[in-house]
Amino acid sequence: MRQPSNEDIATTFNRIAAGYDRPMGLFERHVAVGARVWAVSKARGAVIEIGVGTGLNLPLYGLGVQHVTGVDLADGMLAIASKRLADAGVGRVELRRGDAQALDLPSESADTVVSTFTFCTIPDPHAASREAYRVLRPGGLFVLAEHGTSTRAVGRAVLRALEPLSIRFGADHLTRDPVPYLTGAGFRVTEVHRGGPGGVIFRILARKDDA
Ligand SMILES: C[S@@+](CC[C@H](N)C(=O)[O-])C[C@H]1O[C@@H](n2cnc3c(N)ncnc32)[C@H](O)[C@@H]1O
Repeated sequence: MRQPSNEDIATTFNRIAAGYDRPMGLFERHVAVGARVWAVSKARGAVIEIGVGTGLNLPLYGLGVQHVTGVDLADGMLAIASKRLADAGVGRVELRRGDAQALDLPSESADTVVSTFTFCTIPDPHAASREAYRVLRPGGLFVLAEHGTSTRAVGRAVLRALEPLSIRFGADHLTRDPVPYLTGAGFRVTEVHRGGPGGVIFRILARKDDA
């Protein structure tokens, strides 16, 4: 199956940016309940958020977070995130256009990397995992809230059947499991929680160990 290019992803999310928050809200009310708040609550220190989107996480970061760098491919999503920051009076955030697969950020500069519902859209999750590992300081944490494959056979079959369409029209991989990509990049995965209908919601903590 042809993977969407970065240009495809930017086009898709620029197209849907203005209407993104409403279906995402429904998804979080009925499927991914609590996953976003959980992910943000794990962030500390200097944070890099990959695929920051419309910035739904940004007002939720707590006092333990010093600074957030939010990166996204889609200018339309970043524009909404920027407006959200201004409306909510949220400081300590820098938004920039960038690619999670090739971050224009220094190595070992972050305490936490956050990805909420982004890993499913990234064309090369190996590269994104390696980049998250590179930018984290030793001891740093990669936090992911994601949807992915089901724990049930029927669920897996349904998601596999729908996936070509979801990739084609939404750059969205329905059966991706982030864990093998994370371990492949050198992370020690310390927590994997599966919840939601058919176990499709993943909450994952992955540590970059001290050398
Ligand atoms: C489903 S949205 C999730 C947005 C946000 N994280 C949230 O929780 O609502 C996926 C976002 O990831 C971005 N994205 C996909 N691939 C990316 C990449 N390689 N680098 C940076 N952003 C990417 C898309 O542009 C989109 O804004």
